Amino acid sequence: MQDKIKALLQEIASFSSASAGEVEQFRLKFLSKKGIITDLFEDFKHVPADQKKAAGVLLNDLKNKVQEKINTLKQAHESSGDHGKSGMDLTRPAEQVELGARHPISIVRNQIIEIFSRIGFTIAEDREIEDDWHNFTALNFPEEHPARDMQDTFFIEKNPDIALRTHTSSVQIRTMEKTTPPIRMIFPGRVFRNEAISARAHCIFHQVEGLYVDKNVSFADLKQTLLYFAKEMFGEKTQIRLRPSYFPFTEPSGEMDVSCLICGGKGCNICKYTGWVEILGCGMIDPSVLENCHIDSSVYTGFAFGMGIERTTMLKYQIKDLRLFFENDIRFLEQFKGSY
Ligand code: DAH
Repeated sequence: MQDKIKALLQEIASFSSASAGEVEQFRLKFLSKKGIITDLFEDFKHVPADQKKAAGVLLNDLKNKVQEKINTLKQAHESSGDHGKSGMDLTRPAEQVELGARHPISIVRNQIIEIFSRIGFTIAEDREIEDDWHNFTALNFPEEHPARDMQDTFFIEKNPDIALRTHTSSVQIRTMEKTTPPIRMIFPGRVFRNEAISARAHCIFHQVEGLYVDKNVSFADLKQTLLYFAKEMFGEKTQIRLRPSYFPFTEPSGEMDVSCLICGGKGCNICKYTGWVEILGCGMIDPSVLENCHIDSSVYTGFAFGMGIERTTMLKYQIKDLRLFFENDIRFLEQFKGSY
């Protein structure tokens, strides 16, 4: 037994370790319940009486040396920063966790919502799968209107009455049907059109619809609301221009251009050298649309507008290709870090 202990003493003396994990292994080997020291104390019972004294001294010495060795090694590792039982250095700086960025469409959608909430517009959303009444008929689209054509609209194969909505104007109808004026709301959402994908068009895109119905709502209210929006969105110096246009559900109808942010009106390839960029359609709600929703058009008037979020985002951030919004290329997306 004494020889065995002497050999172990040597082993302990020559032990050195690379990591805290190895020190822990060493401790378990000697000091755990099933470790060498416990075994030796067990064997000690059978040592002949005349050798007991010397063996006892050696055994206690061995136990102390193990403990001392562990203490010194642990201290050495702690001061060099190696703390963990697993050998991990917990004092090292953690790996940087990359934060994601919000998608530019979400950023601009949130900005639009924020700008209109400041002047009392509330927000609602509605379904993307619509029936003919809400997407077309109630909005005054004549039976033979080309927008109903299979080429523009995604119909549900088994039911020609059901389609993916082609614009958020359907939410105007849904809202007016179930609410009594005054109504002052905006409706953001996804819309679908059967278009070939290019730098300027996509089959899925986003719109925000605006609706204001009350007594005495006039075209001047519409114009002032849109001017306020354009200045908040694109900057104080922004000017707007309303051009006459046609939509079945508004009369009169207009399209709004904003002065080109990029060249300040001098002419560039974003504004196609006109100094103006079109961003939305608008108008006074046609009385028959109000009547379709059981709103008395002799008492109430209203305006509506609808803008493309992609178009607005492209202008705001000078993005030249619409496809970038759908590709999820991290190099594109991470440029919007920090915006909400
Ligand atoms: N729904 C139209 C479109 O998708 C945009 C629009 C035009 C909406 C005039 C309106 C409006 O509310 O008054 O092209």
